[in-house]
Amino acid sequence: MKNIFFILCLTMVSLCSALAQEFKPGEVWKDTEGNIINVHGGGILYHDGTYYWYGTSMHFNSKASPLKGVGVYTSKDLYEWENKGIALSVYPEGSGHKIEDGCLIERPKVIYNEVTKKFVMWFHLELKGKGYAAAEYGVAVSDSPVGPFKFLHAGRSCSGIKPMNMSVDDVEELSSKQNIKRRDPEWRSVVDKGLYTVRDLGKGQMVRDMTIFVDKDKKAYHIFASEENQTLHIVELSDDYCNYTGRYVRILPGKGNEAPTIFRHKGKYWLITSGCTGWAPNAARMAVADDIWGPWTELENPCIGEKANKTFNSQGTFILPVHGKKNVWIFMADRWNPNNLGDSRHIWLPISFDENGVPELKWYDSWKY
Ligand code: GAL
Repeated sequence: MKNIFFILCLTMVSLCSALAQEFKPGEVWKDTEGNIINVHGGGILYHDGTYYWYGTSMHFNSKASPLKGVGVYTSKDLYEWENKGIALSVYPEGSGHKIEDGCLIERPKVIYNEVTKKFVMWFHLELKGKGYAAAEYGVAVSDSPVGPFKFLHAGRSCSGIKPMNMSVDDVEELSSKQNIKRRDPEWRSVVDKGLYTVRDLGKGQMVRDMTIFVDKDKKAYHIFASEENQTLHIVELSDDYCNYTGRYVRILPGKGNEAPTIFRHKGKYWLITSGCTGWAPNAARMAVADDIWGPWTELENPCIGEKANKTFNSQGTFILPVHGKKNVWIFMADRWNPNNLGDSRHIWLPISFDENGVPELKWYDSWKY
């Protein structure tokens, strides 16, 4: 009798913990210590049997200077997360450092370089007191996935270099049109053509919402909103992942995409982005290409069902391939709470495919992979 009771208890316990192993998009998600998981606009690295979840760590209930640094959590199964602290810390206020307290570090992503054995972090950096005007990238490296990451450099991208898909004639023509204003009828077409690319050739291209993608051949790319958020840029990274090679393209020109996320499936590159409405959600967009350099073809919003036109009240940040599972990807998104950014909720949804193999996103109150 005692034995049966014991077995029953054991079954109950394992049943309960199995039930806990679920994603519950939009609900408060706590770490193993019972605190809210405070990493936002983040991304995940799988390395040696562990998932590392990086993102901006915020002070709670704060609008001004919300940033603590880049936080990191670890997990073996993607359901339970342990807080490993701050992987990249900001420098003290008054230090004059590019990442001094009061700066903004958004959408950090970490990749591992198999040759140098370094973990490389890229992020969108806005300088202290300058709002969103600086529009820079930042890079930091570490020997350990949990840090401490060491700041390497920051700045605009590819200064002095024109995109591969812009001709010398275009550069010349657009240089002569730099005084065209937003109210002028020609503005839209010249912006699409690269008015701001040419404007920024000297100091380098703007870098805002971003992600990093490592392709099958281990080449890595930085994908970000540039040109006043009008156009996305894809820039190739050097073999050590710490610099740009200078090879880059403009894609979806003038379409106003941000929050880029990307994955590769059956030889195609799928990009899921958002429109530009700040912290407020809008409808996701999608594009596909056979080659990372394009051409990219725009598709419909991948979201289906209620609140599809607001990406289920969220904005994408990363697409995670689940390790060891064939064709399982998680679309990770943030439901921003601009009055308390630290308590922005995590929306993780599975990517499914329609009968033509096109990605779809549907809402689930709870789900497992
Ligand atoms: C969003 C962007 C966020 C953050 C926010 C600030 O459009 O995706 O990462 O920069 O604007 O308003």
